[in-house]
Amino acid sequence: MPDIVERYSIPTQHFWLHGPRSGPPVEFDAGTGLWNVYGYPELQEIFSDPAAFSSDTMRVIPKDLMPGREEFSMEGFITQIDPPDHGKLRKLVSSAFTRKVVADLEPRIAALTHELLDAAEERGRLELVTDLAYPLPVIVIAELLGVPSSDRALFKRWADALFERDAKISLTKSAEEQGVDMRATLKPWKEMTAYLAAHADERRSKPRADLLTRLTEAEVDGERLPGEQVVNFAILLLLAGHITTTMLLGNTVLCLDAFPEQQDRVRADRTLIPAVIEESLRYLTPFAAIGRSTARDVELGGVTIPADQLVMGWLGTANRDPRQFTAPEVFDPGRDPNPHLGFGRGIHFCLGAPLARLEGRVALNILLDRFGRLRTDPDDPVLFLPAPTMTGVRRLALV
Ligand code: HEM
Repeated sequence: MPDIVERYSIPTQHFWLHGPRSGPPVEFDAGTGLWNVYGYPELQEIFSDPAAFSSDTMRVIPKDLMPGREEFSMEGFITQIDPPDHGKLRKLVSSAFTRKVVADLEPRIAALTHELLDAAEERGRLELVTDLAYPLPVIVIAELLGVPSSDRALFKRWADALFERDAKISLTKSAEEQGVDMRATLKPWKEMTAYLAAHADERRSKPRADLLTRLTEAEVDGERLPGEQVVNFAILLLLAGHITTTMLLGNTVLCLDAFPEQQDRVRADRTLIPAVIEESLRYLTPFAAIGRSTARDVELGGVTIPADQLVMGWLGTANRDPRQFTAPEVFDPGRDPNPHLGFGRGIHFCLGAPLARLEGRVALNILLDRFGRLRTDPDDPVLFLPAPTMTGVRRLALV
């Protein structure tokens, strides 16, 4: 079994990749003021009880830890909303962002993958993230929404400004100590809001065959989405289209590099691709942690978490919990079933999962077709994203 930690110099902050964890499944960290939940069954409990574990985390983060927060409208930010409002919003957005809408994208995803790989081939070198894993999902989500994908340098600037944060979240350090100043992200946020609001307004007067139009027109029980919520949902999709599938593609190629016998198997039998993608989501979980706040005192993993606490649920460790997965340190696409928590679970289960899976499947199939061997360049080390709650590469050169 390869030691991926040593081989790819995986940073220590990605502790869930550094071998089996010892210690209790639920732990209070006095240093940060957070409750960390590491175990699989405990995470399942969190996902199945949104009344006790609220998604509205902002309410327990003191305002002075996020200067400038009041200037942001989180209206309609589905990831932060609890029932019953969540169900209503989810029904509305799901009626526009259907499985059929996603499935119809397959030929376009394949054509784009070829175009991007052709361009890299002309340059004579493939750095997977810049050349494919980053642009592919961004172009796809931009085209789906109906905003010009040629504006993607702009989207990248906004996404970078919002995500460039490598510090650990803490409730005990001041905003200054943590280097958090929401005001720094206000300008790009406002630009992004204005940009999408202008596009949404245009769709109201001149409807087109795009997701933005469908969002402005979507109705449940005679009600439409308020304009601000259309814009915020579009922002969420545009941002989700940036980092998530990028991580999935990079991680999957990394897994096949580290486990060449699995690469041989999937190369010979492409029906194994979906299982490879699922195991990659378990083994190198892109969103390694989710946040919740306790709405009341709650028992979890043998301890009592008081009300109004901030809880970090570590999907990365849960996906390697030996109580759920046999030999969790082994990348084994043969796991059947593979009930990983990479897309979350329950009412907030990832809405983009069908799109991410489709992009992953199409891109991997084409990569296997076009490259005799997917192998990282030993002279050009793999670089990981610094964010402590994400598992993903930001540089992956192939030879
Ligand atoms: C929710 C992961 C791709 C849109 C989530 C959640 C996870 C997740 C863990 C649950 C969050 C929670 O419970 O608090 C991922 C991963 C992806 C991916 C690993 C890629 C491999 C995408 C894409 C989109 C998307 C491509 C959109 C185009 C969303 C939305 C939600 C969500 C809208 C919120 C759903 C709700 O609150 O009801 N995702 N995601 N995701 N994801 Fe994804």
